[in-house]
Amino acid sequence: MSFEIKADKSLSKEEKYILLIPQLSSLIEDEKNFVANLANLTSALKYSFDDFLWVGFYLRDDKKKDEIVLGPFQGRVACTRMAIGKGVCGKSAQRKETIIVEDVDKFPGHIVCDSLSRSEIVIPVIKNGEAVAVLDIDSDKPDNFDLTDKKYLEEIIKNITHIF
Ligand code: SME
Repeated sequence: MSFEIKADKSLSKEEKYILLIPQLSSLIEDEKNFVANLANLTSALKYSFDDFLWVGFYLRDDKKKDEIVLGPFQGRVACTRMAIGKGVCGKSAQRKETIIVEDVDKFPGHIVCDSLSRSEIVIPVIKNGEAVAVLDIDSDKPDNFDLTDKKYLEEIIKNITHIF
């Protein structure tokens, strides 16, 4: 297993994802520890894209099933808990679908964790029909996420759903 992620700043966004995706699978294939794997995945994602301000997982709480709680992340400190249905993360978990927010100030109910965040994408992790987690990525650039991010981030989530 390699502990180094190859990235190339000259590549297009799509090429960066194509280079990254197989590396993410290798990164977690030999390790069984869930927290270690999520921690490394968030780091690999954050440092492959200059415009990712914050990358992290919120996990459905085992005890309070109507809440998601902060998991491994890369970035500044963040809100620890959100109700399912609240904020972009809680809404993505509730709807069980990816949400792209072009402008966080225009998304009703957006929860501010970092005032530098301008746009956001949240991808749910669906297992046995239930949202067990979400991957949240914030950018300090407005309108940073599009259908290319959705396509490849959903593929990444599909590839790692077995570890949840
Ligand atoms: N903005 C998110 C909260 C989480 S942070 O951005 C890390 C939301 O509304 O769900």
